[in-house]
Amino acid sequence: MARHLITSALPYINGIKHLGNMVGSMLPADVYARYLRQREHDVLYICATDEHGTPAELAAKEQGLPVDAFCAQAHDAQKAVYDGFALAFDYFGRSSSAENRDITQHFARRLNENGFIEERAIRQVYSPTDGRFLPDRYVEGTCPHCGYDKARGDQCENCTRVLDPTDLINPRSAISGSTDLEVRETKHLFLLQSKLQHEVEEWVARHEAHWPQLASSIARKWLTEGLHDRAITRDLDWGVPVPADTWPELAAEGKVFYVWFDAPIEYIGATKEWADQDPDSRDWKSWWYDADSGENPVRYTQFMAKDNVPFHTVMFPATELGVREPWKKVDYVKAFNWLTYYGGKFSTSQKRGVFTDQALDILPADYWRYFLIANAPESDDSSFTWEHFTATVNKDLADTLGNFVNRVLSFSRKRFGDDVPEGGVPGEAEAKLGEQIAELLAEYEAQMEALQFRKAAAALRALWSAGNSYLEEKAPWLEIKTDKDGAALTLRTAMNLIHLYAVVSEPLIPSSSAAMRQAFALADDTATWVTPEEARALTSVPAGTPFTVPPVLFAKLTDEDLATYKERFGGAPE
Ligand code: MF3
Ligand code: ZN
Repeated sequence: MARHLITSALPYINGIKHLGNMVGSMLPADVYARYLRQREHDVLYICATDEHGTPAELAAKEQGLPVDAFCAQAHDAQKAVYDGFALAFDYFGRSSSAENRDITQHFARRLNENGFIEERAIRQVYSPTDGRFLPDRYVEGTCPHCGYDKARGDQCENCTRVLDPTDLINPRSAISGSTDLEVRETKHLFLLQSKLQHEVEEWVARHEAHWPQLASSIARKWLTEGLHDRAITRDLDWGVPVPADTWPELAAEGKVFYVWFDAPIEYIGATKEWADQDPDSRDWKSWWYDADSGENPVRYTQFMAKDNVPFHTVMFPATELGVREPWKKVDYVKAFNWLTYYGGKFSTSQKRGVFTDQALDILPADYWRYFLIANAPESDDSSFTWEHFTATVNKDLADTLGNFVNRVLSFSRKRFGDDVPEGGVPGEAEAKLGEQIAELLAEYEAQMEALQFRKAAAALRALWSAGNSYLEEKAPWLEIKTDKDGAALTLRTAMNLIHLYAVVSEPLIPSSSAAMRQAFALADDTATWVTPEEARALTSVPAGTPFTVPPVLFAKLTDEDLATYKERFGGAPE
């Protein structure tokens, strides 16, 4: 069995994420990890909170907390939501960990020894009022490109252009609001990415053929524009300190690494955090170091939204290459477009959009998991609307799947009691159904292997529909009047479909799947995958197996529900 390393982009610590974040990184990674685990691969799914940088410091300030206390609490709050979404990370770490500090410092020392780091004096915004330099988001002002007056020092939210704090017109401090700012010279470490351009190009050329077009086109664009040397340190209190053994002067000045330098390294750091919990049985290094050699090389798949692609396809690989040690590099970059809210941006300030904690307040995770995966913004942006959401839940989950399960089990119990009935020998309808099921399951597997989530969800939905068509065709509620054995066979076949659905729907809707599986008191019940060949026979639940009727799996959403959601979250933008 293959070894699969999976990571999803690390969510920033500074607040609960909205559904758009979830669908573009953690959720599909979880679906893929669950699928591969069911197929009995050796899977390690790692994620963490991204805790450094100015957003963390500013959010802490807003809440009146020391930044370390803020991060600890915000980490737990995010983790609770992800547990609620049933994200089955092997480990959910923190980029502020000691493990990440050590590995980040090691990377920096190696890059330095290999001639890829240089100390340079640069001009930075300094605030005498605040008594400090103001990097990145600590400065706000007017965007020189579009005139937006709340642009932040690192980027303009309005036109998305990347900025330097010294670019801003009418700059002011984000801490004190002071406009008494000056530009002072200070020393920082620069990563000489320009020296690595050629190597990164070669590396991308060797891999991009296997990446989705969205990932390779973004990587190409960045390489064409050329890799620039960039400052990888900042004047902040919070972050991985520059190691004093290598840069005593900068360390004494309290410089820390830039958040985008240490964040991707936390993929490795969090793996070590995972191993440090149980060092005797967990070997973090085998996943990351020299992991391409040997008999069972690691396959590494990353999940992220498109704005993260340059960092993962170009910048982090440049860092890893420059370290000159065999650290594992990504094999497959699964990138997503944006999920919009009624075609517009999710916006906290305008109270538009749905945050992940609010989503769970309203409905259980499986409703969201299914809808989001079935509508993942893969080939293009996709739009969340309450109309679409409620219609999908009602049609696919409540009618096609939930109703099938309930109808079959309740009817069988009423007419044949608490055990799966025996019935006659399977006939033509069962053979035809078996064919169909085998084909659709093969299609579902192929789409999962190809990480085509929308198409995988469509194949799963077709599997559910096939059961409905069979039931309509056989109509056991009529059949029973003339052919009791025939009706029993139909119900036993349908119950086998339920069990098959339970197993193969697990990656998308894990808790409903568990409820479906547990309806049957099978001697050795596992969620291990069923191959199309095995599925064709529809005999995994034998006659005589005791069963219970689970509570309604998916509630139907009413027009009133729809109106309530739209009122609470805002509907179509005016
Ligand atoms: N926190 C970043 C974001 O939300 C993602 C960091 S991914 C990592 O855009 F590579 F840095 F880890
Ligand atoms: Zn702008």
